[in-house]
Amino acid sequence: MYDIDKIRDDFPILKTKMNGKRLIYLDNAATTQKPQQVISAIVDYYSNYNSNIHRGLYKISEKATQKYSESKEIFAKFINANSIEEIIYTKNTTEAINLIALTYGEKIIKEHDHILISEAEHHSNLIPWMQLAKRKKAHLDYIKLNEQKSGLDIESLKEQMEKKPKITAIFHASNVLGTINNIKDISKLAHKNNSSILIDGAQSIPNIKIDIKDIDCDFFVCSSHKMLGPAGIGILFAKKSILADMPPLFSGGDMIKVVNKYSCAWNDLPWKFESGTQNIEGAIGFRIAIDYINKIGVEKIRKYEKDLMKYFLEQTNNIKNIEVFGPKNIDERVGIASFEIKNIHPHDIAYIFDKQGIAIRAGHHCAMPLVSELSKEKALARISFYIYNTKQEIDESIKAINKVKNIFKIE
Ligand SMILES: Cc1ncc(COP(=O)(O)O)c(C=O)c1O
Repeated sequence: MYDIDKIRDDFPILKTKMNGKRLIYLDNAATTQKPQQVISAIVDYYSNYNSNIHRGLYKISEKATQKYSESKEIFAKFINANSIEEIIYTKNTTEAINLIALTYGEKIIKEHDHILISEAEHHSNLIPWMQLAKRKKAHLDYIKLNEQKSGLDIESLKEQMEKKPKITAIFHASNVLGTINNIKDISKLAHKNNSSILIDGAQSIPNIKIDIKDIDCDFFVCSSHKMLGPAGIGILFAKKSILADMPPLFSGGDMIKVVNKYSCAWNDLPWKFESGTQNIEGAIGFRIAIDYINKIGVEKIRKYEKDLMKYFLEQTNNIKNIEVFGPKNIDERVGIASFEIKNIHPHDIAYIFDKQGIAIRAGHHCAMPLVSELSKEKALARISFYIYNTKQEIDESIKAINKVKNIFKIE
């Protein structure tokens, strides 16, 4: 059973008020709230065993080191990776993609080579490739949107693959459209064309079961803060065979095994890619977030999210002059819905929602090429759900939409 009252009870922030109203938090695609269990784990670390990892020959440092490693073990299991050797902690998804572009990308991309992304990428999965292409005088190619602008055009994907890109980097779930890509098929197609493939899983891993072996991608990236964990922890999964040959991006403490005055030997995987003191409390909190998700079950989370999305789409369907973007079929989308109300700027929508105690996002959503295609204002309002949201909160959002329309005298 999905015990929504119990889940909500675990999130202290949901008991707080915003502008005098009980907070309704619908900006989960930006970051999710944290359960008490995650907050307590971080407080416990700082209160009871704060110390550095991998270097202290004393009890509390050994405990911190063990907790840090356990966090990776739990995550490796969560995505069905072979071992922690394939799991590198970064600052966030953005840093994970940059790490790949600046090491692996730098090594394999040569002049006139092709790098393939799509028109619907988050800037995090666009700018690092744009910069790499510029540095190397390579081509940056785009998979086009489909005619309905609800997802990617499969013909365009196939056409672009014929150019034999060296790297394909693509989102799993869109942070604007909510659309879920069939990444297993895309990975297969990429490999058939000798392209390595990176999956941006920032918006999929909170809700969709990830089996890295089944997907068979070379790289998978995501962020702890979008799945109940602390900010400052991003995850890069990469196949061991690739990591073994990849140079480190940063060098210094902890990423070496032996150092002489004029040479050094890199540390084993994954530590070769983690230099200096890491985000220890972040890793500890992240582990507890995964435990929390596992306790509910990703499949149950996905089902709950689909119910909420179905309800939201039904409710907005009855409202005039509103357009909700993304696929109509809830099986093809996660709990993210960007929308537009005719002749009203999204910032005005977000402002009026805020006054009702409802947090939503409005703007270009770090996806300017896509949002410019969808909206003449080059901005959209966006509602995004997570495990603690309810249908009553959607009802309040519908009231807020009607309020916006009344204020602006839109039919
Ligand atoms: C699809 C997608 N990719 C990448 C990112 C970047 O994540 P982070 O800000 O944690 O680096 C986001 C953040 O919203 C996202 O939605």
